[in-house]
Amino acid sequence: MKNIIITGGAGFIGSHVVRLFVNKYPEYHIINVDKLTYAGNLANLKDIENKPNYTFVKADICDFDTMVKLIQDEKVDGIIHLAAESHVDRSIKDPFTFAKTNVLGTLSLLQAARLYWESLPEKYEGKRFYHISTDEVYGALEFDGTLFSEETKYAPHSPYSASKASSDHFVRAFHDTYGMPTIVTNCSNNYGPYQFPEKLIPLFINNIRHRKPLPVYGKGENVRDWLYVIDHARAIDVIFHKGRIAETYNIGGFNEWKNIDLIKVLIATVDRLLGKPEGYSLDLITFVTDRAGHDLRYAIDSTKLKNELGWEPSLQFEEGIEKTVQWYLDNQEWLDNITSGEYEKYYESMYANR
Ligand code: NAD
Ligand code: DAU
Repeated sequence: MKNIIITGGAGFIGSHVVRLFVNKYPEYHIINVDKLTYAGNLANLKDIENKPNYTFVKADICDFDTMVKLIQDEKVDGIIHLAAESHVDRSIKDPFTFAKTNVLGTLSLLQAARLYWESLPEKYEGKRFYHISTDEVYGALEFDGTLFSEETKYAPHSPYSASKASSDHFVRAFHDTYGMPTIVTNCSNNYGPYQFPEKLIPLFINNIRHRKPLPVYGKGENVRDWLYVIDHARAIDVIFHKGRIAETYNIGGFNEWKNIDLIKVLIATVDRLLGKPEGYSLDLITFVTDRAGHDLRYAIDSTKLKNELGWEPSLQFEEGIEKTVQWYLDNQEWLDNITSGEYEKYYESMYANR
């Protein structure tokens, strides 16, 4: 039996990772540690919540004493760390929360794991601290075909990416200073079921359905590299089990899209699946004030991961988008539960300020 903590397991990517591990590894005890912020939602895990190898613990990773006790009580062998504040626009409004959760929360987990693992006779043998990070730490690329590699220098621009970069440095420092067996991965933009509808793809699908404006930042020319979330979860599985200690792996889909082109694909897909005529929702496109410090282009080179561990995306983008749009159309109740109440007020105020 291995005891593995997955932090942020009630969020978008974390819920897919928890589901994959709980179903694929009945011999593991998976402990989902999540504070349930606005972004955490246990409805994302309904299908596995009663599995015997799954436990949910509502806790804040910044609460050091609780982390120490939990890691010791559960005799934790591995940590897959996804808990974070993850939305760039929120980080521009409230950078402190991002520094607290993403930097201090990561440090709290590292130190709690160190205390426990160093107290064992075997020390760090068979242990693993796997930190999930983002391509945004590398900054922004020009329209010149270059890609982020594992050697690209860190150059974060937003408070979100600065906090993630800082947490990555702490993780590597724990390897270099204490010999903790750490791994860091930096992934590109994820899309798929259960993503909180403040992020581009679920927000726009929901707005198209409700004939609400689609707020395109700037001219819509920024480029993102999109990966289906289940392919990210598959990569995390392979890297957790086979990745080399102290290494960094980039994860991406070689799938760059200019925002405005992606938005047109979303409109065409939603309209078609709802039986509307072609071009019906194009009038919803509304160009609004750009995001402050908006990174122009992200694109990941994941060759190292492919060559070393054989991972590749399993899904073509067209198939992934079709499945994703269909999922949000089929799960309107999931969306309604989130978009009513407090979140609606937040969204209206963000939109009004543009
Ligand atoms: P999310 O915002 O959907 O989920 C974050 C989860 O963390 C939520 O369940 C939330 O309740 C929990 N959480 C937040 N603060 C916490 C705290 N103090 N203690 C315990 N739990 C807390 O995020 P996501 O999009 O699923 O991203 C997960 C991770 O992957 C993040 O670290 C993010 O930086 C990284 N990442 C995301 C993407 C992406 O496209 N979404 C891409 C690359 C990397
Ligand atoms: O690259 C990985 C990152 O991808 C993750 O680390 C972050 O957690 C995740 O949120 C995502 O960051 P982005 O800022 O790229 O994602 P977002 O969905 O917020 O925006 C995608 C693009 O769409 C970006 O260029 C901004 C633009 N956009 C976004 C929103 C919400 C709009 O034009 N209008 C919008 O309303």
